[in-house]
Amino acid sequence: MTILSYTKMLLLLPILVLCFAWPASISAEENFVQCLISNSLPSEPITPAIFVRDNSTFTSVLNSLVRNLRFNTSTTRKPFLIITALHVSHVQAAVVCGKKFSLQLKIRSGGHNYEGISYVAEVPFFILDLFNLRSIDVDIKTESAWVQVGATLGELYYEIANKSKTHGFPAGVCPTVGVGGHLSGGGYGNMMRKYGLTVDNLIDAQVVDVNGRFLDRKSMGEDLFWAISGGGGSSFAVVISYKIHLVRVPEIVTVFRVQRNLEQNATDIVFEWEQVAPSLDKDLFIRLTMDVINSTTQNGTMTVRATFLALFLGDSKRLLSITNTSFPSLGLKESDCIEQSWVQSVLFWTNFPLGTPAEALLDRRPQTLTFLKRGSDYVKTPIPKVDLERIFKRMIELEAPMLTFNPYGGRMAEIPASATPFPHRAGNLWKIQYATNWNEPGNDVSEKFVNLTRNLRRYMTPFVSKNPREAFYNYQDLDLGINHNGKASFFEGKVYGIKYFKGNFYRLVKVKTQVDPNNFFRNEQSVPTLPH
Ligand SMILES: Cc1cc2nc3c(=O)[nH]c(=O)nc-3n(C[C@H](O)[C@H](O)[C@H](O)COP(=O)(O)OP(=O)(O)OC[C@H]3O[C@@H](n4cnc5c(N)ncnc54)[C@H](O)[C@@H]3O)c2cc1C
Ligand SMILES: *[C@@H]1O[C@H](CO)[C@@H](O)[C@H](O)[C@H]1NC(C)=O
Ligand SMILES: *[C@@H]1O[C@H](CO)[C@@H](O)[C@H](O)[C@H]1NC(C)=O
Ligand SMILES: *[C@@H]1O[C@H](CO)[C@@H](O)[C@H](O)[C@H]1NC(C)=O
Ligand SMILES: *[C@@H]1O[C@H](CO)[C@@H](O)[C@H](O)[C@H]1NC(C)=O
Ligand SMILES: *[C@@H]1O[C@H](CO)[C@@H](O)[C@H](O)[C@H]1NC(C)=O
Ligand SMILES: *[C@@H]1O[C@H](CO)[C@@H](O)[C@H](O)[C@H]1NC(C)=O
Ligand SMILES: *[C@@H]1O[C@H](CO)[C@@H](O)[C@H](O)[C@H]1NC(C)=O
Ligand SMILES: *[C@@H]1O[C@H](CO)[C@@H](O)[C@H](O)[C@H]1NC(C)=O
Repeated sequence: MTILSYTKMLLLLPILVLCFAWPASISAEENFVQCLISNSLPSEPITPAIFVRDNSTFTSVLNSLVRNLRFNTSTTRKPFLIITALHVSHVQAAVVCGKKFSLQLKIRSGGHNYEGISYVAEVPFFILDLFNLRSIDVDIKTESAWVQVGATLGELYYEIANKSKTHGFPAGVCPTVGVGGHLSGGGYGNMMRKYGLTVDNLIDAQVVDVNGRFLDRKSMGEDLFWAISGGGGSSFAVVISYKIHLVRVPEIVTVFRVQRNLEQNATDIVFEWEQVAPSLDKDLFIRLTMDVINSTTQNGTMTVRATFLALFLGDSKRLLSITNTSFPSLGLKESDCIEQSWVQSVLFWTNFPLGTPAEALLDRRPQTLTFLKRGSDYVKTPIPKVDLERIFKRMIELEAPMLTFNPYGGRMAEIPASATPFPHRAGNLWKIQYATNWNEPGNDVSEKFVNLTRNLRRYMTPFVSKNPREAFYNYQDLDLGINHNGKASFFEGKVYGIKYFKGNFYRLVKVKTQVDPNNFFRNEQSVPTLPH
């Protein structure tokens, strides 16, 4: 199916609802609920965790973790039931009964999936919500922590900082992202050049497998543990918790945010960034975001603004000696640099005002919600200056989409591509994120902005990786292909699977075939089983 027809299909969903009658039929739903009750422990009643459409709070539970307003419409397919698991036995019951009734299960931890895959489906489905399972147990002595999947990154960072001024964890920069999707999909953050990805810092995990068994790393085996370390949990099992390895951070780190638009030589500075950012000292991570703004010097015209946002694991003096020699065109000054604790740097990176207390990380609601579309690419050779100029011109024509470049190199280039399912290691200079946000509802408006995003991504084709055109799994993008989980499932899965996982796709398929041969854990972009 083409992308366009998928979009059309979303619009047709209310009609399709009528075709799949049974989950809506009362007796079948009652049977499913009965199954859940009889498969859970009397000491841990499951009924307070079951929400059907008749429950007055059904919609608020569903919407509480919708993080892309593109999927907050009356035509978005709704689940027929939500289980907000309060205990592992509820997860076990959900899997056992979902399998028994051949129902599509969607697993949701933090709800940040860009395509709503954790809470939208084309077929009748129920949601297993894990936000109640969010304990965090930090042990500084062993420099490790057990964290349940329903915790947010912000809660995790807060708990680490609460116990130590010199430990952190290399994960995403948005504090409301959920641990479940982020870690199982291979999360990255601004310490990636020093310590690698989240999945390069995993020690153990607990899952509920397709047979409802509660397993740890030892009992699940290395293959399944490998798969849920970047291959996406939702194809393999329900992850309950991860044991992570904490990393050391200095008591004082340095951050800066420096902006230059085209009139301030942004093109030259971006070009120099391309040469140096992936090979700078591992302690320094400089993210580059480019967006289109009104010109400050010429009324009525637009310009491109380049924002250089950095974390340096050291003090400002050493930072300036690095940038003065390696990245002179940026013109970084002492006054641009802010020295603070690591946990404060987390707040700075997510745009909280200076001085915001660390408790802000405990707020599970995002600062803003928008309609959005995301995409990704990888770059293996620097983009020549004349092409940068063309790209900026194109961005100004399109106006809406932003580009973010996240530099690789450092530790990322040292870890073998097969160590985890995440394959984009040595040879990649940086990852591109395409990002478009808008605030106006309506399917036409959405189509317009999604189109603009695709348009910019198409324009970038000559400058990015080819055969395959690599993409980041945690930036899931249904434009890369959709699985209907029918007879052609393997071949459909290969289309996006090779982009996300390169050669590791085949090992993921092998593991999938072993642990879930009947493809219970499936979705629009899951890892398929081998063809029969
Ligand atoms: C504002 C924002 C900022 C972001 N910043 C970053 C960043 O800095 N770095 C980065 O790497 N990524 C980033 N992302 C992407 C993010 O890492 C992924 O979307 C991630 O998968 C979200 O996890 P979640 O639990 O919140 O999402 P969900 O939507 O709940 O889950 C995402 C996927 O994982 C599956 N899943 C969730 N929990 C489980 C589980 N317990 N067991 C099995 N499968 C599960 C879901 O079924 C779904 O397929 C960002 C996303 C947003 C919206
Ligand atoms: C949902 O509604 C059902 C039936 O009306 C009721 O038994 C159940 O307790 C409700 N669930 C919650 C979580 O309120
Ligand atoms: C989601 O849509 C509903 C119905 O249109 C609307 O009332 C609600 O405000 C929307 N939610 C957000 C966060 O915009
Ligand atoms: C740690 O958390 C407790 C409450 O959970 C709080 O009282 C204390 O101030 C916190 N300490 C630090 C250093 O953040
Ligand atoms: C831009 O570069 C030119 C030539 O290198 C230089 O003269 C000028 O001062 C720079 N402008 C800014 C705003 O840095
Ligand atoms: C740019 O200016 C126009 C008016 O000239 C205004 O409508 C628009 O909101 C501005 N855009 C931005 C991004 O500031
Ligand atoms: C742009 O227009 C505003 C008023 O609309 C004016 O105050 C400002 O001086 C103008 N700037 C330039 C650079 O022309
Ligand atoms: C870096 O350069 C600035 C301005 O050129 C200068 O003031 C500063 O002392 C230099 N810092 C280091 C550490 O070299
Ligand atoms: C989006 O793009 C498609 C194909 O390029 C086109 O047919 C459609 O009209 C576009 N929609 C909008 C709203 O721009």
